Amino acid sequence: MTNNTSPQPGRITNSLDDFWMPFTANRQFKARPRLLESAEGMYFTATDGRKVLDGTAGLWCCNAGHGRREITEAVSRQIAKLDFAPTFQMGHPLPFELAERLAEIAPKGLNKVFFTNSGSESADTALKIALAYQRAIGQGTRTRLIGRELGYHGVGFGGISVGGMVNNRKAFSTLLPNVDHLPHTLDIQRNAFSRGLPEFGIEKADELEHLVTLHGAENIAAVIVEPMSGSAGVILPPVGYLKRLREITRKHGILLIFDEVITGFGRIGEAFAAQRWGVTPDIITCAKGLTNGAIPMGAVFVDEQIYQAFMQGPESNIEFFHGYTYSGHPVACAAALATLDIYQNDRLFQQAIELEGYWQEALLSLRDLPNVIDIRAIGLVGGVQLAPSAEGAGKRGFQVFEQCFQDNVMVRVTGDTIAMSPPLIVEKAQIDTLIATLGDAIHKAS
Ligand SMILES: Cc1ncc(COP(=O)(O)O)c(C=O)c1O
Repeated sequence: MTNNTSPQPGRITNSLDDFWMPFTANRQFKARPRLLESAEGMYFTATDGRKVLDGTAGLWCCNAGHGRREITEAVSRQIAKLDFAPTFQMGHPLPFELAERLAEIAPKGLNKVFFTNSGSESADTALKIALAYQRAIGQGTRTRLIGRELGYHGVGFGGISVGGMVNNRKAFSTLLPNVDHLPHTLDIQRNAFSRGLPEFGIEKADELEHLVTLHGAENIAAVIVEPMSGSAGVILPPVGYLKRLREITRKHGILLIFDEVITGFGRIGEAFAAQRWGVTPDIITCAKGLTNGAIPMGAVFVDEQIYQAFMQGPESNIEFFHGYTYSGHPVACAAALATLDIYQNDRLFQQAIELEGYWQEALLSLRDLPNVIDIRAIGLVGGVQLAPSAEGAGKRGFQVFEQCFQDNVMVRVTGDTIAMSPPLIVEKAQIDTLIATLGDAIHKAS
């Protein structure tokens, strides 16, 4: 591989120059690339032949592990049978079948499903549904959207406006108007090294009451939060926090949206975090684990009553002017149906619960290592937060990430937090390897 070959017409040079990589330090990567070539089960194989343990389910998406034959075969059969069919004023059977299957595992009442191609599109779709719903029920002054600091809802303009990760926002001054943010719930001083959900912080939900006092409930359409913030470094909801948010939103007629792009499909031991924590929002967004990461697809689950509010007026009217060319794409639907079968047949959501205790103790065994300032774990997701080095925020975290990869383990880094979310098929011995490798890397970075 080279990144400075001058290409001849018609000649493939294997140069790394032309792919502008997303969320990547391009120049650093191209100088020292980390390239994966194939994957099977819990392992990637890198282009240099090394087997690398996948500690992150790809990018929080390959919950059933890699190379699942059932998905590959379903996708191959489907692409040969019906490669594409429009879903605007036309249809084909698969998205209907998939929506019904999904409604079976969703929280009760959230039985209408709108298909997208990604988590970002799911977030923007959910925000648009919320605004259009309020208008449909005669509450057209409800135009304000509320997100949360450190939230991540993808990279569309809607998602970055309600999102709260500063680097994703600060270069783009034209964000949506009428947006507020709740405070984040990370509180290392009071909650460091909690087992399970942190004890302190329920009162952060009460900030919503302050926003209601400031703007008037009649101007607020929806609140969107990740039940557990993944991208900002595995930030767990304090005990009682989500329930409190639900109570306040319900009291004021504000819709509650859970972004379950990471927590959906078993990551924390149930199909959705809403079920694990016994709080049912009005809308849930998802993507990633929906197809085990094999084919891009997202979905938005909507409460029956919201859907019915749109089904008014002449039947010939299009009720919601929104959709994507690939909403309900046949090949993506086939991948999702095969994925749901695997989750069910292999009891993978229960697996996350059964391993939760082992996973948590394994992670907490790192607590006395140098520079470890917090460890957070739930289901099969975990975050190890390190103190920033004198060289600046994020440097130590990146060093640990690179070291792990050199030592054949893939973790994820966000700032100085190492995040892990192995496929739900992970075995105890692989958890041991993951944690031992991470521990060594933390030592080396001290
Ligand atoms: C909670 C959440 N929402 C939305 C997204 C965006 O998903 P995508 O990258 O598929 O657009 C992500 C991606 O990590 C996410 O974690």
